[in-house]
Amino acid sequence: MQSSALVEPAGPKYALYQEICEQLHHLLGAEKNFVTNAANASALLFQMLPDINWVGFYIAEGSELVLGPFQGKPATARIAFGKGACGTAAVRARTVTVPDVSKFAGHILCDPSSRSEIVVPLLNWGRLVGVLDVDSPSLKRFDAEDQEGLESVAAVFLASLTDNDLPDLSDDAALS
Ligand code: SME
Repeated sequence: MQSSALVEPAGPKYALYQEICEQLHHLLGAEKNFVTNAANASALLFQMLPDINWVGFYIAEGSELVLGPFQGKPATARIAFGKGACGTAAVRARTVTVPDVSKFAGHILCDPSSRSEIVVPLLNWGRLVGVLDVDSPSLKRFDAEDQEGLESVAAVFLASLTDNDLPDLSDDAALS
């Protein structure tokens, strides 16, 4: 096999995600506040991604995810680790893609028009900070290219923060 076979050609969504990452990098600038940057990241994604109805952040707190900045309809405030698509991505520390939410056991429906979903965990040196959740009114909206693109978006977001601005996940904080 030729080694060039290992190099994947850029897919049709590559340019869009590259543009989103560049715009997000400039938009966040030197700002390091978690809530501010999560708010601007959700607004940018909601504006630029076609065929989505909800995008936002859940922030890790103790053994739960608590709703953070988002765009879309009001959503569930708290999700326990292991529950729903978000809690599953949190405990697996891996992206969860749900092609059909009606077939995902334990799916938590926030907006009845959501039919597919992708959840990207936000990891800071392996430590879970939260998740980025995107919902679509179309079945099978998210593919491997969306996963790669949204994981890049999550990396740009995380790179904008310092450790001081990340949620305090220490045991003391979880107990307080
Ligand atoms: N569907 C998610 C809950 C969050 S809403 O989609 C915004 C889940 O199953 O975890």
